[in-house]
Amino acid sequence: MLKRTPLIAGNWKMNKGTAAEATALIGEVLSKSEGISGAEIVVCPPSTVLYTLKGILGGSERVALGAQDVYWKSAGAYTGQLSPEMLADAGVSYVLIGHSERRGRFGVAEPDFTEGILKHFGETDASVNRKAVAALAANLKPVICVGETLSEREEGTTDGVIQAQVEGALDGISTTQMTHIVFAYEPVWAIGTGKTCSSDEADRVCGVIRAALSDLYDAETAGTVRILYGGSMKPDNASELLVQPNIDGGLIGGASLKAGDFIAIAKAAASLPS
Ligand code: PGA
Repeated sequence: MLKRTPLIAGNWKMNKGTAAEATALIGEVLSKSEGISGAEIVVCPPSTVLYTLKGILGGSERVALGAQDVYWKSAGAYTGQLSPEMLADAGVSYVLIGHSERRGRFGVAEPDFTEGILKHFGETDASVNRKAVAALAANLKPVICVGETLSEREEGTTDGVIQAQVEGALDGISTTQMTHIVFAYEPVWAIGTGKTCSSDEADRVCGVIRAALSDLYDAETAGTVRILYGGSMKPDNASELLVQPNIDGGLIGGASLKAGDFIAIAKAAASLPS
């Protein structure tokens, strides 16, 4: 099996989206990450600052640029959307797809969720799939987010929910294309809440994703796909999560807004035994 290089991706969400804020944060990320090798670092800022960061990063080998969403059409009357080709031109190489804050399967507010998690933009497994296919065609690497809600976990349906999301996302994607796909397991109840999934359970569910990939493709392909954990990952819990055999990195929200915390997590990933 090929060694999987850890990937640490920062999801800035709707933060640090002014040129001044983004310039300041990326400057710190660049300086603090100097000398790190052995882990890939990606930042996913708001789209308003992609070109700004492209200019600053200048094709940096250490820090790559990601987008938070993509549309599947190349051009046309799709108000507010960004095509894969536009994102590629803006220097993007990774794109988050199907983040729980964009998925619409919650329908209406459920009492189990904090307000902050209840944003929904109507994303479905089918739209996630279209976006992944279109991103791959433009040489972008999709980071496909999957995860169960608290009520799904309490009902005991976690594994089935995850398997359905993985399968739904990959319709029509070939074995060769799978080398460009990354998954992120993000239990919805652990995002932005300070609640982390235990490292054993996070590893187990990442293993469920890998087993699903093995069923859909083959064991070798499943063994090369990187699976990240996301949900309240911070410097003090990162090592314990990252050392797990099925966890190949992190998708970091809140802690990615502080360069020191973000890079501490990247250093934890880079220092893992290979
Ligand atoms: P969090 O967010 O690290 O703030 O929990 C993770 C994410 O939503 O990707």
